[in-house]
Amino acid sequence: MTGTQGPARKVARRTVVAAAGGAGLAAALTACGGSESSGTVGEQPAGSGGTTGGSGGTTGGGGGGKVLAKTADIPEGGGVVVGDVVVTQPKAGEFKAFSSKCTHQGCAVKNVTGGEIICPCHNSKFDATDGSVKAGPATTGLPAASIVVEGDSIKLA
Ligand code: FES
Repeated sequence: MTGTQGPARKVARRTVVAAAGGAGLAAALTACGGSESSGTVGEQPAGSGGTTGGSGGTTGGGGGGKVLAKTADIPEGGGVVVGDVVVTQPKAGEFKAFSSKCTHQGCAVKNVTGGEIICPCHNSKFDATDGSVKAGPATTGLPAASIVVEGDSIKLA
């Protein structure tokens, strides 16, 4: 009798051991996974304000366009390039403005000295009073830009 029971027990025991091993592994994995997140409550971001603010600081007196420069910034007999516009002061208290794009090949004019607006690319010179060509290669004067002077602010009209 015992001869037939032996192998059966062996098989049964082996099966049990294997199952236990598997269970042990599963338990280990479960334990590992379970300890991963231990209930930290998500932090709320701090109050989301901060975007309140006034409007830009270029508001001046009444109406008019964008302020290009202050009158004090424009030297007499000279001028200043502000983006697409060059503002000049040919005579004290007289302000003019022209396109800053050279009519020769479109470079931006750079310096205004001695009553002349000078393009750095090929050295064309334009009159700071009326934008006309004083020296080539440009053949066409700089178009005038409309400005208004309000107090000490020079604005696009
Ligand atoms: Fe101004 Fe040529 S682009 S002189």
